[in-house]
Order: sequence, then C-alpha cells, then structure tokens
Amino acid sequence: MPNVVVIGAQWGDEGKGRIVDLISEQMDIITRYQGGNNAGHTIVIGDQKIILHHLPSGILREGKVSVIGNGVVIDPKVLIQELRELREAGYRADSGNLKISDRAHLIMPYHREIDIARESLRGSGKIGTTGRGIGPVYEDKAARRGIKFSDLLDPEYFHDRLKHSLEEQNSYLTKVLGKEPLDFKQIYTEYLEYANELKDFCCNVSELLNRANSEGKNILFEGAQGALLDIDLGTYPYVTSSNAGSGGACTGTGVSPTKIDLVLGIAKAYTTRVGEGPFPSEIGGELEERLREAGGEYGATTGRSRRCGWFDAVALKYAAMTNGISKLAITKLDVLTGFEKLRICVGYKHKGEVLSEFPSNNNVLKNCEPVYEETDGWQEDISAVTDFGELPVQAQDYLKKIEEVTGVSIYAVSLGPSREKIIFISELFQ
Ligand code: GDP
Ligand code: IMO
Ligand code: MG
Repeated sequence: MPNVVVIGAQWGDEGKGRIVDLISEQMDIITRYQGGNNAGHTIVIGDQKIILHHLPSGILREGKVSVIGNGVVIDPKVLIQELRELREAGYRADSGNLKISDRAHLIMPYHREIDIARESLRGSGKIGTTGRGIGPVYEDKAARRGIKFSDLLDPEYFHDRLKHSLEEQNSYLTKVLGKEPLDFKQIYTEYLEYANELKDFCCNVSELLNRANSEGKNILFEGAQGALLDIDLGTYPYVTSSNAGSGGACTGTGVSPTKIDLVLGIAKAYTTRVGEGPFPSEIGGELEERLREAGGEYGATTGRSRRCGWFDAVALKYAAMTNGISKLAITKLDVLTGFEKLRICVGYKHKGEVLSEFPSNNNVLKNCEPVYEETDGWQEDISAVTDFGELPVQAQDYLKKIEEVTGVSIYAVSLGPSREKIIFISELFQ
C-alpha cells in the first residue's frame, strides 16, 4: 500500500491540517516528522474548529494510529494541554492511538526565553519567529546538549543532562542576552511531572512504522511549516530550524526514502507568509488587505496577520523540484471569488534580467520584481461546487494555468475549511 508525504509547498499555513484530515481516512498511520508547536494545523468538522500544534491531523479519525516522530520537538506542557483540550472536544488521545518517539527532543523553558530575548535584541533584523523556542531547541540538538524524551524518563540521567545544558544556557542567558538565570530545581521537578503524564506514549517509532509498513499498512507523513521555510532549501535565514520538506520525513521518523511512494504538495490558490523575509509576489496596499480579510489570514498559532500575495509559480516550481512533489492540492480557491483580476507570478526579474533559477541569495530575492500573467476572476459563489466542470470557466482556467506553469498536476481543490468542500480532479495514487 502507498505511503505519502504531505508537505506545505509555500511558506506554511497552506491548509495541511485540512488536507491531511481528508486523506487520513484512507491511511492507517499518520505521523508528524519535524517542527513543534510553531505549527498550527486547523481542522473544521461541523461547527467544531480544532487547531493542532504537536499532534498529527489524523488524530481526529477513529481507528487510526497517530505518531510523533523523532524529528519533532515537543513542549511537554503545551502537549499535555493540547491532549486535554482534544479529549474535552470528544476525541480519543491515549497510548492506544498516539505514540511519541523516545528520540524526540524536548523544548525547555530556556529555549523559549532565548528565542524571545534574541528576537527582541535583533530589532529590525528579526526573523519573526513564533517565540516557541524552536530555533534554540534544534540548536541544542545539533550542539549535542539536547534532551530527548527517553532521557526525561530516566530521572538520574535527566538530572545530568539538564545540569549540563542549563549551565551553558544560563551563561548565555545572563552574559549575552542580559536575562536572569533559570532555576535548575524548578525545571527538574516540573519536567518530572510531565514525564509522569506522558510516559505511556513513549515508543520506538522507527520500529513501529517499519513494522507497519512491512505488514502492508499505509503511512501518511505530515509536514509542518512549508518547503520555503525548510532550513536547508528555504529562504534562509528566514526559515524555521528543521527540514520541513519531504526529506525530513525520512530523517524525522527512521523510515527510508525507498518506502515513500508519493509527495503531495499543499498550496493555497494564492500565497501567504507570516514573519519576516523576502516575498516577491506580496501584494501590498488595500488589495492585500481585502485578500487577508476574505481568507481570514491570521495565524493559527500566534494570531499574527499573514502577509498575502499572488500565487507564485516560480517558488512553487522550485519547491516541487527540491521535494519531488508530483501532485498538488490547492486550497482556498473560494477566497478568490469576487476579485476582478487575478495574477500568477511566472518569473522573477532581477536587474532587468529574468532569472532562470530560484535565487539562494536573499538580497537578490528581496529585490526581484515579479513577472505576472493576469487572468479574469469570477463572481459566482463556488463554495458548494463538487465537480470541476461546475466551476466558472475563469476558475477552471485559473487552475489549468497553475498546472501549466508549475508542471504539477492537481489532485484536489478545496473550497472551504470543512470536510465536504472539496473537488477531486485526479487520482492521488495511480
Ligand atoms: P496549516 O498550518 O497548513 O494546516 O494551515 P492553517 O490551519 O494554519 O491555515 C489554513 C486556514 O485556512 C485554516 O483556518 C483553515 O480552516 C482554512 N482553510 C483550509 N482550507 C480552506 C479552503 O479551501 N477554504 C477556506 N475558505 N478556508 C480554508
Ligand atoms: P504551519 O505548520 C507559517 C515561520 C515563523 C517565522 C519562521 C521561523 O502551521 O504551517 P520558528 O518559530 O519556526 O523559529 O519561526 O517560520 N513559521 C510558520 N509560518 N506556518 C507555520 O507552521 C510556521 N511555523 C513557523 O512565522 O517566520
Ligand atoms: Mg498553520
């Protein structure tokens, strides 16, 4: 049976939660592989709206196993709260349907402090992070002073690991960032309580996923953030600190590339970005404000206004190439209803020349002028359409244009946040 990686093909918030919820009906296991509670994945079921931060979006489907892979970073306090809220909303979340990797790294209070303090020191040079400690926790992992979930479950070892980390981090907090040091005993006691609440979820996730795969079960790997926020292939330094692209699915779970059958990219029918960084097709002015309002473009994690732009086929083609995206799901097409003219960015011009590649240098990217193709919009309400042929011809042409300029075929088009508002255009697995 097929295994699929679902990634954001833009700068995050493409509607991954909504599409993963849809596809997970056909899957056995849904696993997150990177990121942490910087993510906010929204799923609407009836009049209920659920926003997930650590938990895979398959958790709302009965009979599925949800997994948090080793590449994910966990803030235990936030995760416990997320589990509580989910149960209160009437969903199951226990050690029978949720497994958390013993190798996942933990977000500690000093990671949050450092993230926030560093951003405020950077002033106008800030990244615009979510302030959840994501950069610092991945730094600790790479610096080999991080704390894994399994470390937390061994109080003596956890004691040593925390002592070692906190000593270095307190020195950084006080001497470089001018903050107060954090108290060892307080963190140690607090985290042992979290250990007690979470211990039953601890699992060797690579064993579990590989066994399931050899038994013919199918696995959905759910990315967080988006291809252009990937630490290696995104618009560095305005990125997150993990591999949000498809490659992260393997390193973040211990399942090899030979077992991945398909990469599905999720893209909005336009583009958004939260935080700082270059954004060639950003609209600006009243038109951007109108799109933001129409799309409700306010962050699911931090509530910040999302920057809005036209569909960027140059960035999408780059994301498709570097991640092996062979199908697209387009979300929020309904939001474009009522706009007289629509634009698709088909090229970047820099110093008068159209670039042949997506630039790696931010200084170049930020000075690129978008080359647009303009199409007519449509005025009809499309939110109840269930068949491609029933869409206004302008909407059909817009989607065909996206396929043509990106070179990727569309699997589905979403016309609203809830489950039934979807048009299927082609088979996902052929
Ligand atoms: P994610 O992080 O990629 O899962 O996306 P978010 O949940 O942060 O943001 C997507 C937002 O768009 C959420 O509020 C969804 O409920 C909403 N959404 C998803 N698909 C559609 C759609 O097709 N139409 C509309 N109007 N809203 C959608
Ligand atoms: P989902 O999974 C959109 C952005 C932040 C900031 C940059 C680095 O919901 O799509 P970080 O806190 O990760 O160090 O911030 O990345 N960012 C996101 N933008 N959606 C997300 O997640 C994001 N997670 C991080 O705004 O620009
Ligand atoms: Mg989001």
